[in-house]
Amino acid sequence: MNKYNFDELVNRKNTGSYKWNLLKEDELPMWVADMDFHVLPEIKEAILKRVEVDAFGYVECPEEYFESYKNWFKRNHDLDLDTRCMAFSIGVVASIDSILKHLVPPHSGVIIQSPVYHVFYHCIENNGHVVKENRLIDKDNYQIDFDNLESLLSDENNKAMILCNPHNPIGRIWSKEELKRIVDLCEKYDVLLISDEIHCDITEPGYKYNSILSVTDNAIALFAPTKAFNIASIKSSIAVCPDEAIKVKFLKGFGMDDIGEPNYIASPATIAAFTYGDEWNKEMREYIYNNKKYVVDFINKELPMLKVTDIKATYLLWVDISKVSNNSEAFIRHLRRQTGLFVSCGKQFGSGGEGHIRINLATSFANVKDACERLKQYILSII
Ligand SMILES: Cc1ncc(COP(=O)(O)O)c(C=O)c1O
Repeated sequence: MNKYNFDELVNRKNTGSYKWNLLKEDELPMWVADMDFHVLPEIKEAILKRVEVDAFGYVECPEEYFESYKNWFKRNHDLDLDTRCMAFSIGVVASIDSILKHLVPPHSGVIIQSPVYHVFYHCIENNGHVVKENRLIDKDNYQIDFDNLESLLSDENNKAMILCNPHNPIGRIWSKEELKRIVDLCEKYDVLLISDEIHCDITEPGYKYNSILSVTDNAIALFAPTKAFNIASIKSSIAVCPDEAIKVKFLKGFGMDDIGEPNYIASPATIAAFTYGDEWNKEMREYIYNNKKYVVDFINKELPMLKVTDIKATYLLWVDISKVSNNSEAFIRHLRRQTGLFVSCGKQFGSGGEGHIRINLATSFANVKDACERLKQYILSII
């Protein structure tokens, strides 16, 4: 018997939600990466308790905040994190931005593995760095092109690499062997390794992700409760780096960029998530898995011209539509206009993204079934 009801959704219309704002009556948004589920009740209680005090001045980040990460990662990922290596940041993207700005010389190359979370491109380019893509090989649910990676890392103009672990949008959990090879190469060529691990708590039941910090002390790992607990707008994350010299440098940068202090509710919400969220997280992952299974079976049976990547992490399904369209922008626009289903366009995720769409499965099973019918209706109308 489940404790939480993920069939029952929050009505997010008129709440200022990116996803649910400005929609026509019958539209179904399955794009931006947040969830439609009710949050863990203890998170809401912690926020309500916090706002009972009628003064919202500056607040510190309590030791308990860092302890809650430490305990969560030990319990759920068998990872020992030292709270002295942690620094608060208002978000993973803000951390990446700041680290690139302060630790990576201007104009140098930053390596990412495309197709990948599109905001990495903005962080790199906005800071005057140059994007260097190591395109993933679209074979057996995507593989790393280690030869090309080594050739990029050996170029002395390339000074940093951002790893997406697990990887949005292709849903891969990188193995310890793959991580070790990346780490060895980054160390060999003295390239700063930043590992964005925001999706680590959304794995398929039975599958565990591997943190970069399980294979090296020589990297910066970025963690947050926001993606897995649907609290993205509370702005809470940490950067963890066992190497003291690197930590000191980025801490200074966080101060200069004013991203190193929490807002009023960030720490109580985070502590509640990491203290009381184990069962919620387990049931959420099972729910997402059932949603995924339904869509994958549906596509394989009804729409065999599409190809689904077998994601093992994230709630984002990566679908190859190249047999029916080589223009994902036009595809998602027409899909929305004709059926109301609104998904993400693959092209935005960089090279290797064109010819794909990304579907957000963090919604009710009823919505997922509805989305499948809408997708089928559209595909059948264009072939
Ligand atoms: C890989 C990845 N990193 C970072 C973020 C956003 O993190 P934050 O809201 O902490 O900036 C997202 C959001 O979708 C993401 O997919």
